[in-house]
Order: sequence, then C-alpha cells, then structure tokens
Amino acid sequence: MRILIINGGPHKGNTWRLTEKVREFLYNFDKTIMFDEIHLSDIDLPFCTGCSNCFRKGHVTCPHNKKIQPIMDMIEESDAVIFSVPCFQGHLPGILKNFTDHMAFMLHRPRYFTKKALIISTTGGVSADSTTKALAATLPGWGFNKCYQLPITALSWNDYEPTKKHLKKASEVAKRFYLDVKSGKMHVPGVGVLIPFNLFQAMCVGNKGEKEYPTEDNNFWPKYKGMRYAPGIPMTPLKRFLGWVIYLVGKKLSKTMVITYKKQKI
Ligand SMILES: Cc1cc2nc3c(=O)[nH]c(=O)nc-3n(C[C@H](O)[C@H](O)[C@H](O)COP(=O)(O)O)c2cc1C
Repeated sequence: MRILIINGGPHKGNTWRLTEKVREFLYNFDKTIMFDEIHLSDIDLPFCTGCSNCFRKGHVTCPHNKKIQPIMDMIEESDAVIFSVPCFQGHLPGILKNFTDHMAFMLHRPRYFTKKALIISTTGGVSADSTTKALAATLPGWGFNKCYQLPITALSWNDYEPTKKHLKKASEVAKRFYLDVKSGKMHVPGVGVLIPFNLFQAMCVGNKGEKEYPTEDNNFWPKYKGMRYAPGIPMTPLKRFLGWVIYLVGKKLSKTMVITYKKQKI
C-alpha cells in the first residue's frame, strides 16, 4: 500500500504534528505501507492565473504544469492520500486552496476514481470541521471514492501536543481509513458526483460544442459514453436511474445553453 501525505499548510505546525501521529498509527497497523510526502510550501507554486488553459486546452498547457504534474502523478501512483490542512479563517489555508485551484479542471474531467483520502485539520478554537468538510466537498469532484475526516480542536496556536483523547480519535479514524484502503472496496458514488459526471458527458458527447473556442472536455468524455459513472465503481439501480435522468437533463440543457471559453482581449 502506498500513501501520499500532502502538507497543505505553510509550515510543520500543530496539524503536521498530528499528521505524524496518524502516520505512526498507520505504520503500526501495517509495516509494509510506503509513505511519500509533499510539502506544498516547498514547491513555490505560483498563484493560479485564471487563464483557464486547463479547461480549454488541457492541464498540460497550464503555465505551472511542471510543478503540478509531478503531484498529479504521485496521487495517481498512490492508493490513498492524506491531506494535512490547518484551519485558517474557518477554511483551507491559501497554499492548499491555490493547489486545488490548479486542479479545478478535474471537476470537469475527474480521474482519481479508485483513490481514498484522509483529511486532517487542527484549529485554535473553532471550525476544524468546516475546514475538513471544505476539502471533502472538493475531492469527490476530482473522482475520489471516499473521504475520511479528522478535525481536531487543538486550543493552541503552535504548541499543540495531541492529547490522549485526540490520539484515541485519531487512531480510530486512521484504522477505518486503513481497513477501507486495504480492502480495495469501492463505494457507490453520491448524487453530488453523479451530477457533474452525467451533465458534462451529456453536454460533451456527440455535441458540436463551441467550434471556435473548444474545450478539452469534448475530447475527454467520449470514452465514458453510455456509462453513468466510472467503470469499476459499483452503482445501485437507483443511482444508475438518477444518472440517466441527469444525463437527459444535460442533453436538454446543451441544446439551449452554450458556455463560451472565449477570452476578451485586454
Ligand atoms: C492565518 C491564521 C488563521 C487562523 N484562523 C483560525 C480560525 O478561523 N479559527 C480558529 O479557531 N483558529 C484559527 N487559527 C489558529 C489555527 O487554526 C491553529 O493554531 C491550528 O492548530 C494551526 O495549525 P498549524 O500549526 O498546523 O498551522 C488561525 C491561525 C492562523 C495563523
């Protein structure tokens, strides 16, 4: 089993200390786990410029692809990813938000269908849970099959040592995460991911689209034609039916609604 740990904070602080404990738990469950680490603060990723090249021409044309591609590859090569994210203003720290902005094209073209995530956050007083929830709302859009969350109120601004109670909770969440990853079991997707999967497919397959300002989405979706979700991911009859209804709505919308990627000259 290979687990990638992404430090989405600007330093190795409270959240990283808790993340290291979680790594110890995981290692004690299974000494064969291979861990990789990325510290986003080390890679000097410039801000997303909003050029939307990733949406229009493919993510390889992102001006920062040299920095993003290796991370994408490391996620691809992992069975699961741990995100370590301190709570800043009740939300994700800017450094991680900037990273997710670079990956936003995956909301149109998801790919990590077999990956599972564990999101760890600590906060001084409140909102660790809104921080983990914010990322847990994004990752399924990239395709992630399941997100576990460990939000912890540290009551500290840089002197946190996980308490017995917190360690117990961390160990329990780590165990559930580990057993799920080890099982290889894939979970039925939620409605929240069936919507983009079927809407984008309906709008892009067999659709003329905008010829003048085409989007890479039109090249991506034909391989999923007729599928209500990614191959290999289990679906219930109800979810399949819902996917179909969403697809039909998308087909209807695509007749009247044209989204342009045209850019104004500045
Ligand atoms: C820029 C910034 C914003 C913060 N915002 C909040 C907040 O909204 N709510 C809160 O309770 N604590 C807040 N804190 C405190 C941190 O969430 C807390 O110290 C956390 O454990 C920091 O984790 P770290 O050491 O891994 O960065 C903030 C700290 C910083 C530096």
